[in-house]
Amino acid sequence: MSFFKSRGGDMALVRLVYVSRATKLFQPSSIKSLLATARRNNQNHQVTGLLCFNQHCFLQCLEGPRDKVNETFHRILSDPRHSHVEIVHFEYIEKREYVQWNMGYLQDNASIRALIQKHSQQEVFNPYELSVTATLGILRDVRDDIYHAMVDASS
Ligand SMILES: Cc1cc2nc3c(=O)[nH]c(=O)nc-3n(C[C@H](O)[C@H](O)[C@H](O)COP(=O)(O)O)c2cc1C
Repeated sequence: MSFFKSRGGDMALVRLVYVSRATKLFQPSSIKSLLATARRNNQNHQVTGLLCFNQHCFLQCLEGPRDKVNETFHRILSDPRHSHVEIVHFEYIEKREYVQWNMGYLQDNASIRALIQKHSQQEVFNPYELSVTATLGILRDVRDDIYHAMVDASS
């Protein structure tokens, strides 16, 4: 009983991380409209997180109230722009790690490739092959990279 109580029902905060493959239908240029929709919806639902995309695969972290994260994930799951969606991590959390963004995004570039190599031995980003530790490490480093880029740009 206390196990369920301690998690506080739908109000409990959770973090969900999944990976997926972009389908042929997905145009990289449409990432902009995808992010605009994601940010608008996520703001309305107190969902925060981070999205990584390398032209082939997505790695996304969603955090927020359990019911909202589930609702959001169900919508994402039925989106034809990607397929082979696999949850790689789910946990109850005390506090958010991606509190700055309703959906942060870092484009595939040299710095993200360096981060991936730091956490895995991969030349090409294949989030399906990563350990959970490497996945969470990449997400945190990407978060710090975006944050530093934002601070640099505003100073
Ligand atoms: C890789 C990927 C990530 C997405 N991330 C989100 C998200 O974080 N939040 C969200 O609301 N929709 C996200 N979407 C879009 C949803 O699948 C869906 O199109 C959208 O939520 C529908 O919103 P609307 O009913 O307001 O148009 C994502 C889609 C893809 C393909």
